[in-house]
Amino acid sequence: MSRTVYVNGEYLPEEEAKVSVFDRGFLFADGVYEVTSVLGGKLIDFEGHARRLQRSLDELEITNPLSPEDWLNVHRELVAQNGIEDGLVYLQVTRGAADRDFAYPEGATPTVVLFTQSKPGLADSPAAKTGIKVISIPDMRWGRRDIKTVQLLYPSMGKMAAKAAGADDAWMTQDGAVTEGTSNNAYIVKGRTIVTRHLSNDILHGITRAAVLRFAREAQMKVEERAFTIEEAQDADEAFVTSASTFVMPVVEIDGVALGQGAPGPVATRLREIYIEESRKAGV
Ligand code: PDD
Repeated sequence: MSRTVYVNGEYLPEEEAKVSVFDRGFLFADGVYEVTSVLGGKLIDFEGHARRLQRSLDELEITNPLSPEDWLNVHRELVAQNGIEDGLVYLQVTRGAADRDFAYPEGATPTVVLFTQSKPGLADSPAAKTGIKVISIPDMRWGRRDIKTVQLLYPSMGKMAAKAAGADDAWMTQDGAVTEGTSNNAYIVKGRTIVTRHLSNDILHGITRAAVLRFAREAQMKVEERAFTIEEAQDADEAFVTSASTFVMPVVEIDGVALGQGAPGPVATRLREIYIEESRKAGV
């Protein structure tokens, strides 16, 4: 059955939804996106994603085409029309269509696209029980990773490198320290201390990261926001990643070195439970 997607004010069957070949998202990756998870038909951390969308648009001087209420309504309408119990809502805003020119065109109307992906049992992912394996690769992305742009080719290349190496994902490193995962924030755990890279233009300011660090502090865990190396990670008791699509996902191997017992550790497991439980309660 075909999905209903949203394009520039209209709800359409996916086969009928079209954007221009002159769209700057297509020609220049001149656009931003957000991914919000859905659990039990409710949007998780919606407000955080809406706030970060505004920030990304502001950084690129693209006028936000919808009000916060309209964004929420469109998300809810797509979840309802597609009968999403568990899954994701993807949204993308580009600067719009204009004759090809590097300079931003004046007066272009932003393109707005949203679609859903159904993922039954998203919160009970088998990978969360076994943990995932990561490799390290150099971070060769541009310098404004705090803006959630649709420029995702390097992360795609990273996932392919991981796959080729028999791993699940890649952690990227810069000047000897881990920045983040290809599509998630990276953490290590030593005793009761959680270490994750500090916020800057070098990483995406994860919405799940903010919530998980808050829950960790509330649970009396110590949090250090600083850079760490792959060697330090390999020597840690545990590691994990966070994102809207994976919540808290344990990492059990880094560049072929097993962490601890080579199975998900207690801190990652507990934070995953807390995050999913609290998010379900707070979902909108
Ligand atoms: N990725 N870092 C990067 C590079 C990301 O692409 C993402 C999210 C995150 C985690 O952010 P959040 O917790 O707000 O989802 C960190 C999304 C899920 C994606 O591209 O599918």
